[in-house]
Amino acid sequence: MSGDVLQTDRLILRPFTLADAEDYHRNIMADAEVMRFLLGVKSLDETRALLKNRFRMPSTGKPGVWAGILKDDPDEEVVGHVGFLEQELEGQPVEEMSYRLASRLWGTGIATEAASAARDWFFANTELEVFVGFILPENTPSIATAKRIGMSYWKDANVKGFDVQTFRHLGKQP
Ligand SMILES: CC(C)(COP(=O)(O)OP(=O)(O)OC[C@H]1O[C@@H](n2cnc3c(N)ncnc32)[C@H](O)[C@@H]1OP(=O)(O)O)[C@@H](O)C(=O)NCCC(=O)NCCS
Repeated sequence: MSGDVLQTDRLILRPFTLADAEDYHRNIMADAEVMRFLLGVKSLDETRALLKNRFRMPSTGKPGVWAGILKDDPDEEVVGHVGFLEQELEGQPVEEMSYRLASRLWGTGIATEAASAARDWFFANTELEVFVGFILPENTPSIATAKRIGMSYWKDANVKGFDVQTFRHLGKQP
């Protein structure tokens, strides 16, 4: 896989544009269930700022964030995201895998499908050897997805004032 757009069995993963803000807001940022472990719901302006300032466009060698659209949806509604955010862990730059999915699609394996595609892209298209996950210990669905795609528990850490469990994926290494 290369380029900006990825395909899985059920999904198109493509870069975000600001025109996706309403969909992403409705399905993700305005849903209290989705935002339960992410400091609660956000305003539409906050959603726009996230898309504009944090969701980098993926391109060869440079990880970013993809918008997820179901292939069988004629409206091409954005139902979540998957990708990588630049973060810091104990003073070191790291790439954090991030994923969020509309709650009506939970339990279908779609998040695993998306995260697997992003993982494969990462190791095929960057020179980076590891990505991490920062997950609150009580966010058991997220921990399960991380493990399903081959991430394993690394260590506890405090990230931006939150006590999280860190997970990591070391690519082909054991
Ligand atoms: C984290 C999140 C994406 C996980 O969603 P999910 O639907 O549970 O994730 P998965 O795609 O891994 O699906 C796994 C479930 O689908 C089921 N499933 C069905 N078909 C499947 C398939 N083909 N492949 C894998 N799992 C499948 C699994 O059995 C599992 O069900 P279970 O939860 O009853 O055990 C979702 O909970 C979410 O968006 N949370 C809010 C945002 C968030 O907290 N993000 C993470 C921040 S750290």
